[in-house]
Amino acid sequence: MTKEHVIEMRNITKKFGEFVANDQINLDVRPGEIHALLGENGAGKSTLMNMLAGLLEPTSGEILVNGEVVSIDSPSKARKLGIGMVHQHFMLVEAFTVAENIILGSEVTKAGGVLDLKKATKDIKELSEKYGLAIDPTAKISDISVGAQQRVEILKTLYRGADILIFDEPTAVLTPSEIEELLNIMKSLVKEGKSIILITHKLDEIRAVSDRVTVIRRGKSIETVTIEGSTNEDLAEMMVGRSVSFKTEKIASNPKKVVLSIKDLVVNENRGVPAVKNLSLDVRAGEIVGIAGIDGNGQTELIEAITGLRKVKSGDITIKGQSITNMSTRQITELSVGHIPEDRHRDGMILEMTVAENIALQTYYKQPNSKNGILNYSYINEKARQLMEEFDVRGAGELIAGGDLSGGNQQKAVIAREIDRDPELLIVSQPTRGLDVGAIEYIRKRIIGERDKGKAVVVVSFELDEILDMSDRIAVIYDGSIQGILDPAQTNKQELGMLMAGGQLNKEGANV
Ligand SMILES: Nc1ncnc2c1ncn2[C@@H]1O[C@H](COP(=O)(O)OP(=O)(O)OP(=O)(O)O)[C@@H](O)[C@H]1O
Ligand SMILES: [Mg+2]
Repeated sequence: MTKEHVIEMRNITKKFGEFVANDQINLDVRPGEIHALLGENGAGKSTLMNMLAGLLEPTSGEILVNGEVVSIDSPSKARKLGIGMVHQHFMLVEAFTVAENIILGSEVTKAGGVLDLKKATKDIKELSEKYGLAIDPTAKISDISVGAQQRVEILKTLYRGADILIFDEPTAVLTPSEIEELLNIMKSLVKEGKSIILITHKLDEIRAVSDRVTVIRRGKSIETVTIEGSTNEDLAEMMVGRSVSFKTEKIASNPKKVVLSIKDLVVNENRGVPAVKNLSLDVRAGEIVGIAGIDGNGQTELIEAITGLRKVKSGDITIKGQSITNMSTRQITELSVGHIPEDRHRDGMILEMTVAENIALQTYYKQPNSKNGILNYSYINEKARQLMEEFDVRGAGELIAGGDLSGGNQQKAVIAREIDRDPELLIVSQPTRGLDVGAIEYIRKRIIGERDKGKAVVVVSFELDEILDMSDRIAVIYDGSIQGILDPAQTNKQELGMLMAGGQLNKEGANV
């Protein structure tokens, strides 16, 4: 029997209270195709997919899987129907190992029902090698970077062997080579007869692998088009309803005195092995220093040491001449340091609290947020409304839980909070993770605006385009040390890639 569609969603509406997140959306997926789902932050993509994964049920509308009307009322039902989803926000158990997380819910047992962790670990190793997704099966989730967590999520879905795979922004925290690898994996999966729905904000990725793309805007399906028939500009415009600039305009930097100074820094990773090794770096007022590197070369530990989330083993970090080595995060924050963390869920917000409380998270104990220990909610909520307006944080309002904002809007809320505190040193990791093209344009402008106001800015990003676009100087980190410092106007991705892999440049005067 041949079926025309593996998935058909007809007139799907999903409401949260009065708020309409999906409004009569139609989507169909053909067997063996990669179907991209494109839309602005908060457009309703994850909500729509969560209904296929059994995490949410539609308020109205019909879902057909392989031509039959179904009710997907639980994740196990979705699994029975052959649907697997790589979630935008990882659903991993922090206290468990990588292997335990991957097999959770599909445990291999020995005779007598005993869990065969040895066999599972071996299978996972093989799977990880087959697909080029490097992980350590024995590491605890709480000890690994977001990039590694993303690889675990992907392996988990592959391990379960679903026929219809949903990838919700799988590439947001992967490095360029991992992204290429993943796109190849997708192509081979459809050759094996699987069908894929791919959510990504990166138009080139959609172009590289997908057959058709459905655009949704503010909860409504706008159009389904073939990829050949449309340019990136067309897609961006369909999505946001206006034309978008892909390059950020900026004036020359005017660096002043050193704000952040790092000398011979050594920082251990969780297992006690040095991840940052004798690293030295200065960052001045009025400049953006971009840190480029392959995931796992010490950038996470470096940022955690600067922001007080991790202990320094030896060496020194000073901010405006004052040593902050091993101060608490609160003390460092109070020295006028802003931090946009790589893992917004772990370090950026408290998902159960309201958006407004999250926006007040760094300053709630001070006037005018509170007085004599009593929170002034009318001020806190009003302030949140203002910032949500200014930074275009979209959602049902400032009183919903932070976790109920869409991924990109959570990111915007964290950025709004940190920039609004007007810090002299702004530490930013993966600033545009999960943002749509319009929001990326705006956020990069705001961060560059901070530099123009004389702030010192450090940007860590896996995206070399972002590093090249935003930085005034680029520090390449390799194996825990700075491998070279480059002028973005004088370098390119090839050179950066070479340094990132531990190579040297043989040309004169490349370092600045
Ligand atoms: N449980 C909830 N309660 C209230 N609003 C919700 C809830 N879940 C989702 N929403 C809202 O529904 C809208 C769509 O969210 P969704 O996560 O589907 O967006 P998205 O298209 O995936 O965006 P992004 O690109 O940022 O991930 C958002 O405005 C979000 O705040
Ligand atoms: Mg989403």
